[in-house]
Amino acid sequence: MNDDLARAVKLLSSGELVAFPTETVYGLGADASNLQAVAKIFAAKGRPTNHPLIVHLPGADYFEGFAEDVPDTAKRLAKAFWPGPLTLILKRGRKVPYLVTGGQETIGVRVPSHPLALLLLNAYAKACGGKSSMCGIAAPSANRFGRISPTTAQHVREEMGDQVALILDGGPCAVGIESTILVLSRGISSPPRLLRPGHISPEAVSEVIGVFPELVLHDHDTVPRVSGSLALHYAPATPLFIVPGEQLTALFKNKSESGQRCALLTYSHTAEHLAPAIVRRLPACPDGYARELYAALRELDEAGCDAILAEAIPESLAWMAVNDRLRRAAYTKGGAD
Ligand code: TXA
Ligand code: MG
Repeated sequence: MNDDLARAVKLLSSGELVAFPTETVYGLGADASNLQAVAKIFAAKGRPTNHPLIVHLPGADYFEGFAEDVPDTAKRLAKAFWPGPLTLILKRGRKVPYLVTGGQETIGVRVPSHPLALLLLNAYAKACGGKSSMCGIAAPSANRFGRISPTTAQHVREEMGDQVALILDGGPCAVGIESTILVLSRGISSPPRLLRPGHISPEAVSEVIGVFPELVLHDHDTVPRVSGSLALHYAPATPLFIVPGEQLTALFKNKSESGQRCALLTYSHTAEHLAPAIVRRLPACPDGYARELYAALRELDEAGCDAILAEAIPESLAWMAVNDRLRRAAYTKGGAD
């Protein structure tokens, strides 16, 4: 085991926080069965304690203790997509602290596919005594509450500073947006519910279980089940406006003439002639766009402009997950003025 990994295991065992890479975004981890350690996550993030955490497991055979009455559909999905960017919401195991589940009777679990995450999870499980001993790592995204999720170790450093004992650096995240969340705890007669779209699409889910999940993407209950469903989530500090591609140049010029500095987030060639404006062009495919979106939002936010103008992306199902994140980044600021 390399030195950092050994240190990470030691820190987790003694109730400290360790940030680690996953294929989606970086996570802020603590031993899921240690209440004091889990409490540190909420304090470090500034996150309300009624927001449940995802427990990360080394493999699908580590459900034991964390979840009960695991339906067959969950097992099939786990087999098809784990390790990978899919979180399953299941009935909570009796020994799981309510602090982990946000006081709910359900629990979110996933097996991430980043090699360093898997090494850490397996090493920690081994140190805890193997499968029978409830060895999971509770980890939300390693950002301050309401901020953009980190996709590099440097982002975590900027977000968390010295609030975290160790940051494992696994390079930039390959997926770049948070995992797909699927609720499977509503009994076998109810279809699974998609709480958060992600890299694993509803079509891919339905190919495995034969049922298309119900789409519930804007759940604004008073008790938030998915903190990402809150308006403020994933938002840069600079107001972000989503603008149809054909209006981008006109709006940019209009704002510039009234003295406003705008940064541009595009995926086509529309804005290239507007250089030397700050333009960040993302790949014109959903996976590539997702991979670079959060780093681009941070970069444009740091440019300290008056506004970020984001070129509207297609409305198709393939773009659903990135559209969801882009809208949240713009949500509180309203549409283009
Ligand atoms: O890709 C990801 O899922 C990343 C990486 C680190 O694994 N994690 C992540 O965690 O995005 P977080 O806490 O930032 O977002 C997870 C969401 C939370 O908003 C939470 O509300 C939801 O999952 N969640 C967790 N347990 C839940 C439950 N029992 N019922 C409903 N939603 C749940
Ligand atoms: Mg988060």
